[in-house]
Amino acid sequence: MDWGLKNRLAHIIKPANNRAVMLAVDHGYFLGPTESLENPKQTIRPLLKYCDSLMLTRGVLRTSVDANYPVPVVLRVSGGTSIIGEDLSNEEITVNIEDAIRVNASALAMSIFVGGKYEKQTIVNLGNLVNEAEQYGIPVLAVTAVGKDMVRDARYLSLACRIAAEQGAHIVKTYYCKDFEKVVNSCPVPVIIAGGKKIPEREALELTYNAIKAGAVGVDMGRNIWQSNAPVAMIKAVRSIVHANANVNQAYDLFKKLSKESPKQTKPQSKPQQTQNKSKNKQKKKQKKK
Ligand code: 5RP
Repeated sequence: MDWGLKNRLAHIIKPANNRAVMLAVDHGYFLGPTESLENPKQTIRPLLKYCDSLMLTRGVLRTSVDANYPVPVVLRVSGGTSIIGEDLSNEEITVNIEDAIRVNASALAMSIFVGGKYEKQTIVNLGNLVNEAEQYGIPVLAVTAVGKDMVRDARYLSLACRIAAEQGAHIVKTYYCKDFEKVVNSCPVPVIIAGGKKIPEREALELTYNAIKAGAVGVDMGRNIWQSNAPVAMIKAVRSIVHANANVNQAYDLFKKLSKESPKQTKPQSKPQQTQNKSKNKQKKKQKKK
């Protein structure tokens, strides 16, 4: 493996323990303003320091993430469909490699739709993307099994993940299922799980724990973090499982404790009274001088 590719992969999967906490905020690329991600800047900001990498589109990256903050970026480069369109699987690659390099992407992400109407197109897209990305030492993450019609069992997920790896994907993202070991063991590259639809926090932590126990290297989680009533508490609890080997009870206790300290902020915090008064005083002084 080339040095650059290895180095970029290490931004995403931490070499110290071979684990990864990726925060997924790319949903808008086909869902539009999803609940709790209507204002991406506001959603992402408090969570940034608790994720190892951030998965998103270039549009949200450029408009909603501070370029001075050193978070590795997993750039969503596929799209072209919407939730109200005819077929979600009809995706193309929408970002060229030059732009991915310009935003300093640590990895590129795209979806394949195994069993979908446009299965062939998306698998060929993956092969072509790997060809291009490898020239620049950029790893590719393949997202599998998106879509409400997919039967997410071990048989199907093993098929989809293995096909992604055979095309050269360096990481595969999929959904947790019963007998998840089968999916992991038949996939020769690291597997991470998506969280899926919002479920109660304890269940999402259980999902994380079981996936790690079955061999997943980590999570690329979205809704179960930022749709929680306490997103910071939730990402920290997920992190405690992935990076500190916490069990479900320990992680849930941590969530409960932290959720009291840091509940969700729906509006930007107003300035503390004292500061507001201070700035009003400053303004008055300035006006007097004029
Ligand atoms: C959709 C994606 C999302 O990033 C993925 O579904 C992860 O988010 P969530 O945990 O909300 O399922 O790739 O195509």
